[in-house]
Amino acid sequence: MAVQHKWIENFAHAFQASGVSADQWGVVAAETDSNPDLVELSELALQRIGARATLVRVPSPAVNNTVPIRSTGASTAFDAYPELMTALGDCNLLVDCTVEGLLHSRARQKFLAAGGRLLMISNEHPEILERCLPDVGLRARVDYSLKRLEAASTMQVRSRAGTNLTVNVDGAPCRGGAGFLTGDEKVAYWPAGLCLCFPLTNTVNGTVVIDVGDVNLTFKRYFESQVTLTIENDRVVDIAGDGLDARMLRSYYDAWNDPLATAISHVGWGLNPHATWEALNLYDKSQCNGTELRAVEGSFMVSTGANEFAERFTNCHFDIPMRNCSITIDEDPVLLDRRLQERYR
Ligand SMILES: [Fe+2]
Repeated sequence: MAVQHKWIENFAHAFQASGVSADQWGVVAAETDSNPDLVELSELALQRIGARATLVRVPSPAVNNTVPIRSTGASTAFDAYPELMTALGDCNLLVDCTVEGLLHSRARQKFLAAGGRLLMISNEHPEILERCLPDVGLRARVDYSLKRLEAASTMQVRSRAGTNLTVNVDGAPCRGGAGFLTGDEKVAYWPAGLCLCFPLTNTVNGTVVIDVGDVNLTFKRYFESQVTLTIENDRVVDIAGDGLDARMLRSYYDAWNDPLATAISHVGWGLNPHATWEALNLYDKSQCNGTELRAVEGSFMVSTGANEFAERFTNCHFDIPMRNCSITIDEDPVLLDRRLQERYR
């Protein structure tokens, strides 16, 4: 792919929105498997700003599991370099171009402890990043949703397809972002526009009916048949459905042979009006990571996998954005039939 000037401008915009200016030190973190276009665009954009640009590239690590892993946001590429992560803590911005991202990685903890700031660029075609450019207007939306969710006790999710899920969100750590770093923020990712929480132990119960058109972002495909998840005390205890989707979900979970694989990781809703639900149809799987679909305005997302706040760790991770859901928090409607209510806009 030819690197295009407009993309260099897009990347420079994202870095400047994250506070990078001339003469500051910007570091691109990459691995040998990284998308070379994203790495080159990041380097050129830092230079375009006049920043001191550095590329740090390490070998992609050997796989440590026979089950293929996607969608974890927990790259292990830099785990073997704790000294390096500590040294990089002095840079003004670490641009994360690893394949899975350093968002939930162990290496990130070393880096943050050393005072670093990190912007993860999701492994997407640059055109996706261009369409979902960091947007100052999105910040107020995300902040309002976060404030409401942080103050809430109960999240209720329903749909005409049959979803009826109750989450006790009292004390659950909440996260969200607008695709760039401001103020004291230490971690952001692009594209963004999602508000979510990590439910604490024994707080999630009910039924999730994944409908035709909802998305499995680990498999990077839309559901073509209904799948019903029964959830008891955070665990998916039953996966019902006769279609290929239910069969693949059951057998993939089984392949992990890990009781923590099917527990709830996070729940939340999308707020980004520039993110497009149908986008996954228009790119090859190698060209996108589906982060755009995690943030589509009016979507509900349920995820299974690691939840450090409930002390559950596993590399099996599913993000499942769903359409046509209604969400209330403490009786306050957030979504009604996927329509984001006015005060959340
Ligand atoms: Fe996730």
